[in-house]
Amino acid sequence: MSLLTIEGLALAVPGADGWKTLVEEVDLTIGRGEAVGLVGESGSGKSMTARAVLGLTPPGARVSGRVLFDGAPMPSGRALREVRARRIAMIFQDPRAHVNPVRSVGDFLTEAMIGVLGLSAREAGARAVALLDEVGVDDGARRLRQYPHELSGGLLQRVMIASALAVEPDLILADEPTTALDVTTQSEVMAILGELRREHGMAMLLITHDLELAAATCERLAVMYAGRIVESQPAAALAGRPLHPYTSGLLLSRPRLERVSDRLPVIPGRPVAAYEADPGCAFAPRCAHALPACAEARPAFDGAAACFRSAELTLQGDS
Ligand SMILES: Nc1ncnc2c1ncn2[C@@H]1O[C@H](COP(=O)(O)OP(=O)(O)OP(=O)(O)O)[C@@H](O)[C@H]1O
Ligand SMILES: [Mg+2]
Repeated sequence: MSLLTIEGLALAVPGADGWKTLVEEVDLTIGRGEAVGLVGESGSGKSMTARAVLGLTPPGARVSGRVLFDGAPMPSGRALREVRARRIAMIFQDPRAHVNPVRSVGDFLTEAMIGVLGLSAREAGARAVALLDEVGVDDGARRLRQYPHELSGGLLQRVMIASALAVEPDLILADEPTTALDVTTQSEVMAILGELRREHGMAMLLITHDLELAAATCERLAVMYAGRIVESQPAAALAGRPLHPYTSGLLLSRPRLERVSDRLPVIPGRPVAAYEADPGCAFAPRCAHALPACAEARPAFDGAAACFRSAELTLQGDS
């Protein structure tokens, strides 16, 4: 049985001329201890999908589909807050937007340990220092007395990771956890997160627009386009033998040192949101392999890809 199962998730928000669909027909599962990457360009619905799991959707949103966690439907109200406090932790892209600037790092880190795990303030403080050490922050006792503005972005994101780990959740939803950081800090923070995750057997949904990062970190990947999953495969298969032209395009657009003199083959055009998509395949207007039929009907997701041509095309991957 999987830890998290999302079935037929759809999300729409009220707009000036009716409902605007942001996410549609999303199916996604995460096993215990498994790391799954959710990849796609800006606006494809990655954050909305993760937020819908925790009920953190925009006001007035209409959400349908099923979310099962540990075999039971995701609860609401008080029981949902309980799940959020102990079993599913979320790490946000911009740590500064999610900490209270007038509370010390120590108060921030120990709050859940005292409130949820029932530790004494002294025990929680000691554990906070140990956690900071685990995420590569030394001099923890001094850090606990500092305030968010006194820490760099990289340090603050490590504090956020420590706080996510503090209650040893079953699942971490990491929404672009390292996008705001420089490249070196980014790989350090990802390495720490990966190590601790494996050590404590925590599952993770890693949301990122960086397919390479996701493939290096996760066992399985799902690619989103215009609010839908267009491909889902084990990471190595998806990067090596993509089935959807969009995935292939993402792989080929990556800047790579050895190809520095070549022109980057970029995907032409811009991504669309679900509510802007044409009735056929939403990717068809940007797709080099599109046939007239692709603009007419929407290809169904067959468990691996949503493309009429995936069986006949041999697409370029990562080699
Ligand atoms: N609060 C909101 N109300 C209405 N529409 C929203 C809201 N937040 C996001 N959207 C729209 O929903 C769509 C999906 O947004 P989402 O934030 O899930 O994308 P994303 O894949 O996470 O993109 P990014 O990589 O930029 O974070 C986008 O078109 C976005 O403009
Ligand atoms: Mg997002």
